[in-house]
Amino acid sequence: MSNQLLKGKKGIISGALNNMSIAWKVAEKAYEQGAEIVLTNAPIAMRMGEINELSAKIGNAPIIAADATNMEDLDNLFTKSMEHFGGKADFILHSIGMSPNVRKGKHYTEVNYEWYKQTLDVSATSLHKMLATAWKKDAINDWGSVVALTYIAAQRIFPDYNDMADAKSLLESIARSFGYHYGTAKKVRINTISQSPTVTTAGSGVKGFDGFINYSEAMSPLGNADANACADYCVAMFSDLTRYVTMQNLFHDGGFSITGVTQEVVEKFATKE
Ligand SMILES: NC(=O)c1ccc[n+]([C@@H]2O[C@H](COP(=O)([O-])OP(=O)(O)OC[C@H]3O[C@@H](n4cnc5c(N)ncnc54)[C@H](O)[C@@H]3O)[C@@H](O)[C@H]2O)c1
Repeated sequence: MSNQLLKGKKGIISGALNNMSIAWKVAEKAYEQGAEIVLTNAPIAMRMGEINELSAKIGNAPIIAADATNMEDLDNLFTKSMEHFGGKADFILHSIGMSPNVRKGKHYTEVNYEWYKQTLDVSATSLHKMLATAWKKDAINDWGSVVALTYIAAQRIFPDYNDMADAKSLLESIARSFGYHYGTAKKVRINTISQSPTVTTAGSGVKGFDGFINYSEAMSPLGNADANACADYCVAMFSDLTRYVTMQNLFHDGGFSITGVTQEVVEKFATKE
């Protein structure tokens, strides 16, 4: 059901790789709520062509290829988006993450530092680069909203999350720092949403993801939040109903982040009589 929460708003959505991607659901829901969308992803991610299917579903949204680590690509993304919109954007979703160390199974204690740099650049600095480009081109309307997706490994140790944990800490810090500057200058708000483990291409790449997701389910009073629920939260954050929320890391995790233990977990560890 649509309340047209984003009626008249224009947004750029990155990271829709396939129909499991969180960004894919955000694009569908934002469109359903009345927004006009531009889609973007890394050129290499478009090879499968699945993003064309999403574009067709959401009013033939333009697809603009951009490697989020490349300043020229980002410049082109914002130039073309503004041409298409006939003005500035109202919201941006950063839904980008990748670690070569995770992909190639390198242990945290012996990461490859070239790959480590890539992890940070793709998964965190890319938010800074996007925001710096938008800032330079004055591409976001006053009271606009930027959301980046993150994970609680930024605050607590989840060993197999590897160097992505470091990237997420940096990502959250960039949201705060840029949030200050963009807020003061343009009333633009910048937040991160810290999502439950979710079955997607990036998510399932983490070693032991199965155990991870089941543990999280057992430790969350409401259970894990799925990709559709995350998309609903993103829509709320893009809407005018959250205009004074900025520079926050917002947990969207069924209560996981504040739960010490649940009965279900206690029972698993209880000594059998
Ligand atoms: N799935 C989870 O369990 C989970 C939990 C919390 C947060 N997140 C975060 O949500 C975001 C989206 O991930 P997802 O789970 O939907 O997986 P996904 O694999 O569908 O999305 C990751 C996206 O990043 C894009 N990407 C990678 N390198 C890029 C580059 N250089 N330039 C532009 N785009 C690039 C990929 O093409 C892909 O579309 C990520 O930031 C991820 O860390 C995921």
